[in-house]
Amino acid sequence: MFESVSLAPPDAIFGLNEAMSRDARPNKINLGAGVYKDESGKTPILEVVKEAERRLLEGEITKSYLPIDGSADYAQAVRELVLGPDHGVIRDGRAVTVHAPGGTGALRVMGELMKTVGSSPKVWLSNPTWANHAKIFAAAGLETRSYGYYDPESRGLDFESMLASLEEVQAGDMVVLHGCCHNPSGVDPSFDQWTTLGQVLARRGALPLIDFAYHGFVDGTDEDARAIRHLADQLEEMVICSSFSKNFGLYAERVGAATLITGSSKQAGAVLSQAKTCVRAFYSNPPMHGAAVVTTVLNDTELRRRWEEELADMRHRIQKMRVDLAAGLSRRNVRLHKDGNDFIVRQNGMFSFSGLTEDEVDELCRDHAVYILASGRINVAGITESNIDRLCDAIAQVRAG
Ligand SMILES: Cc1ncc(COP(=O)(O)O)c(C=O)c1O
Repeated sequence: MFESVSLAPPDAIFGLNEAMSRDARPNKINLGAGVYKDESGKTPILEVVKEAERRLLEGEITKSYLPIDGSADYAQAVRELVLGPDHGVIRDGRAVTVHAPGGTGALRVMGELMKTVGSSPKVWLSNPTWANHAKIFAAAGLETRSYGYYDPESRGLDFESMLASLEEVQAGDMVVLHGCCHNPSGVDPSFDQWTTLGQVLARRGALPLIDFAYHGFVDGTDEDARAIRHLADQLEEMVICSSFSKNFGLYAERVGAATLITGSSKQAGAVLSQAKTCVRAFYSNPPMHGAAVVTTVLNDTELRRRWEEELADMRHRIQKMRVDLAAGLSRRNVRLHKDGNDFIVRQNGMFSFSGLTEDEVDELCRDHAVYILASGRINVAGITESNIDRLCDAIAQVRAG
C-alpha cells in the first residue's frame, strides 16, 4: 500500500514554519502563519483564558462525550456574540449552531453539509483567498469558482469585478465571504458595499457563508459584526463560521462553530439534524476544553469585559506596527505602492498584502532570514519593536536590488 506513495507538497503556511525551524540562523523573523505575537515575540495565553481555565479545573466534574453538535451553552454564547443577543433570527429560533473543532472544522462540516443537502452547488471563493479554502471544499467533493475581489493596482477592493462575478452565481451556490480582515489582502467591503452584496446574493438565490476568523480585530466585537447582522436582516438563509483561534488565542485548542440561519425554526431543526449526521461520521463530537473556556468568558460579565480589553490590546499593537512599518519603509525611501506605504495602515486585521514579489520574498528568506508567504502576505502581528528595524532594512536592501 505505502511503497509507491510519493511525498505530498508542504503546506504553504505550515511548511514555512517547518522550514524556519530548520534554519539555524539567529534573529530569524517569522511573518508567515497568522499567529499573534506580543511585543516580546511570544504568542501569549490571554489572562482571561488562564482565569477561565482555573475556574474550569475547580468546577469540572466529567470528561464524558459532548453531544454530536457540541455544547448547547457554547452554541448559544457564540450565536449571541455573532448576531447580538436580541437579533430576530435568534428570537424566532431560526438559527442553530454546531460546535466544531476550529474554524477549519466548521468550514469542512459546512462543505459536507452542502454536498449532502445541496444539488451540486458550486462554492465561490474570493480571488485571492486563504489558501486552505479551496482545499477544504474540494475535500468535500464540491466544485470551486473564484470571484473578483482584490485590485493590486489600487491595493483596494475591485467591487465592480466582484459584482460582475456574482452575477454568474447560480441559485443554491455557496459564496464564501470573509466577515472582516480579509485574508490575505486585509481589504474589506464598506458597510454600503455589504448592503449591495446582500441584495445581489438574495437576488441570485445564493447561500452566503461568512468566514469569521478575525472577529474583533478591526474595531471591536459589535462593530466587526455589524455587516453580518445586517446581512442576517436582509437574507433568509446564511452560514457563519466562527473561529476562536485568534481572538481568544486558543489556536491549539481547536475552537470553532458554524451558525446556520434558516427560514424557520422547523427548517433549523432539520438542517441541524443533517449537520449532526455529517459530524458523526467525521469526528463524532467536538473537543470540550477550548469551547468551555470561551463559554466561561462570554457568560461572565467581568471576564467578558477583560477579554474585550485584551482583544483591544492585540488589535492596537497590530495597528501600531502597521503605522511603524509604513513609516520605517518610507524613512528608507521604500515605496511598496506607487502612492507610498499608507495602504499598509488602511488594511484590516493581522495581514498586510505587501506587494513584495515572489523573488523578493525568496531573497528576504535566503539573505535575511525573514519568512513571508510567497504571495507577499506579511503577518504584521509578528512584527515587534525589536525586529522592525531589521525588517525594514532587509526590505530596503531587497528593493534596492
Ligand atoms: C480566513 C480564515 N478562515 C479560517 C481559518 C481557520 O481557523 P482555525 O485555526 O480556527 O481552524 C483561518 C486561520 O488562519 C483563516 O485565516
